[in-house]
Amino acid sequence: MASADIRDQILQLKAEKNALILAHYYQPLEVQDLADHVCDSFEMAKRAREAVQQTVVICGVVFMAESAKILNPGKKILIPVMEAGCPMAEMVTPEDVIRLRKEHPDAAVVCYVNSSAAVKAVSDICCTSSSALKIVRSLPQKKIIFIPDKNLGAYIARQVPEKEIILFNGFCPTHNRISESDVLRAKAAHPDSVFAAHPECREEVLAHADFIGSTAQILDYARKSEAKTIIIGTEQGIVERLRCELPNKNIYSVAASFICPNMKKTGLQELLNCLENEQWEIKLTDEEIAAAKQSLDRMVSI
Ligand code: 13P
Ligand code: SF4
Repeated sequence: MASADIRDQILQLKAEKNALILAHYYQPLEVQDLADHVCDSFEMAKRAREAVQQTVVICGVVFMAESAKILNPGKKILIPVMEAGCPMAEMVTPEDVIRLRKEHPDAAVVCYVNSSAAVKAVSDICCTSSSALKIVRSLPQKKIIFIPDKNLGAYIARQVPEKEIILFNGFCPTHNRISESDVLRAKAAHPDSVFAAHPECREEVLAHADFIGSTAQILDYARKSEAKTIIIGTEQGIVERLRCELPNKNIYSVAASFICPNMKKTGLQELLNCLENEQWEIKLTDEEIAAAKQSLDRMVSI
């Protein structure tokens, strides 16, 4: 089927079923184009929580759809591809958190939203890349166990020297792959550029950044920046979006194939199947939802 036909069918089904479509910025552009809202993971959680439609389709990875279900359990939450997981979320287990708690009984556990419902259930509060600093600062505890992203955790730790941050050895394979030499090469190729990076990148990469922020914050920075040439240190979806939005600026990726393979598993056909067959539905038990809800609710209310 031609993509124009698929698009029409998606829009028709979306209207018939009164479905809300939320897409992450790393989704392919043709999927972003059909969404009611394109969001970073914090905005996605907030919009899912406030959704009034009975069906919410999350075009993203599984932890995002699970968070939507936990925040708004009465809704039917669908994800087009159930195999679209986040490898970082799979790097930490509830047992790891329980062990760390035993080792540091006076610490609060801050859990990056890129984690399973079971891990959220044994954490004190969740955070996203855009809210992590505010959340860590808001906690009365001096000692913080930060799971699972060691890069985001170390980035936050550098900004709160008054706290002791205990890191876990998780990371995003897509962001962690970027090296300092990638940055130096890109800067040498584009000497009058600025460099904006996601905090999931390694410390030696972030050390060269003019701006560090979440996907939404990087977009905002690029839109407002006076610089004509911007090097982007996050997934290709942001680069493509900025190239469309800012045709008068030069937008480059810091490295070739900076792609999250799981985010790219969703295409128009998968979104159409999802709406047509109402699959795949996120199913969590009442107990799982209740256990994980507190830490997500705390994040959204802060
Ligand atoms: P954002 O919160 O910046 O959207 O990041 C989500 C993510 O998975 C980054 O890899
Ligand atoms: Fe997970 Fe990294 Fe993909 Fe984000 S970019 S969803 S952290 S694998």
